[in-house]
Amino acid sequence: MSRLVVVSNRLADPRKPAAGGLAVALGETLQKTGGLWFGWSGTIIKEGTPGEGEMHVHQAGPVTLVEMDLCQEDHDAYYRGYANGVLWPVFHYRLDLAHLESGYLNGYRRVNHLFARKLMPLLKPDDLIWIHDYHLIPLAAELRAMGCDNRIGFFLHIPLPPQQILAAIPSHEWLMRALFAYDLVGFQSEADLLNFSHYVKAEATAETIGAGQFRAFNSTVKAGAFPIGIDVDDFQRMGLAREAVETFENTRTEYSRRRLLIGVDRLDYSKGLPQRIRAFNELLREYPENQHSATLLQVASPSREDVDAYADIQHELESLCGAINGNYGDFDWMPIRYIHRTVARKRLPGLYRACDVALVTPLRDGMNLVAKEFIAAQDETDPGVLVLSRFAGAAEQLKEALLVNPYDIAGTAQAIQRALQMPLAERQTRHKALLANIRQYDVHWWREQFLQTLATVR
Ligand code: ADP
Ligand code: F6P
Repeated sequence: MSRLVVVSNRLADPRKPAAGGLAVALGETLQKTGGLWFGWSGTIIKEGTPGEGEMHVHQAGPVTLVEMDLCQEDHDAYYRGYANGVLWPVFHYRLDLAHLESGYLNGYRRVNHLFARKLMPLLKPDDLIWIHDYHLIPLAAELRAMGCDNRIGFFLHIPLPPQQILAAIPSHEWLMRALFAYDLVGFQSEADLLNFSHYVKAEATAETIGAGQFRAFNSTVKAGAFPIGIDVDDFQRMGLAREAVETFENTRTEYSRRRLLIGVDRLDYSKGLPQRIRAFNELLREYPENQHSATLLQVASPSREDVDAYADIQHELESLCGAINGNYGDFDWMPIRYIHRTVARKRLPGLYRACDVALVTPLRDGMNLVAKEFIAAQDETDPGVLVLSRFAGAAEQLKEALLVNPYDIAGTAQAIQRALQMPLAERQTRHKALLANIRQYDVHWWREQFLQTLATVR
């Protein structure tokens, strides 16, 4: 059997809490398969030399973690600048937030070259290489240029926008051409795959040659949709352990007379947090029976705080929550409990289970694993209701959720009211279908589908 080599910018160190779909999913995947996981250590060396990085190796169960430090200049241009100042906003349809004329591209290329240079000596000829996310799109091209002939797959965890939006990136042809150095490119949804197909046909006159195979730039790549899932059994087992049970009991005791709504996100402008808070405000205004009754627990973990747009969203959210609590709150009831922190993963299933409704309302999201975690954590005899944005990749699969347009504040408030009032029988029917879906398409299915396709693609 070939060894699996996973490469991603962010690694999940089992000793530290992780927030972010990629780290959570890959951590679970690699614990099953074993292998090597290569990525950034999370350390920034203030006076380091650009294009250089010291490596550290740890063993975490069956996984060898190889971590590389980055110097400040590389980190600024590659991670903060190009990946999160250009690619993240554009891929989430936010041209207004993208620094398109930034000149960060050189740093992005330099760090991808560095990743290739450091990874190359660690590779064995029959390793299966799986590269993840928008930070590392050109990595396969760099490895190929160094003579790597292994099978290499790429999975994009975030959405791929339509051609007209992608084409706003000054170097878009170079970026998309780099995908043709892979054997297999995976997307979260059929919508993303369709955007890829339109782009390469329109911009690179690609031909389709057989199922999901595209030929352009003298290369052939296979592309497919592989919606990522969670480890349902593992999450449910975690729900039975002490930390989750304690969290469930404490939450229910603390809010014994309340209907609880939950939001769990990285504090990111793609997650639609201000719109969600406004929809909750509208709920209290339009359906006043929820005053003194409904409480929204919003947990938002700090994320990318050195990127300007993230500081802005934090201030906006704080002021919105403060205003609603000031307007509606009373000595014995606060409408919103806003917590700017990462909750210990072991507590999450208890928190989800204690809540009646989950608000997963991103403006755009590759998949959204919180939606799937909420479903997995519910008590099947008395399940909560998922209110889900139609713009999350998860909406292609989770049709029995209450799907909303998060830009439509009144419509979202109506859906929340419907969720709060939904009869038990309807909640059970919807939850049963949702649970069956996340079980069928779980994280193991995702890994197996992708790796089997990669192993047979050439
Ligand atoms: P993204 O990858 O954009 O962060 P996802 O919803 O796909 O979004 O994945 C987020 C993951 O991180 C989930 O597993 C979720 O439980 C976890 N997470 C997000 N926010 C928090 C938080 N505030 N505390 C703890 N875990 C969080
Ligand atoms: O899942 C999308 C993603 O961008 C991952 O690539 C990333 O690891 C995660 O969100 C969290 O973001 P960051 O690594 O920038 O903290």
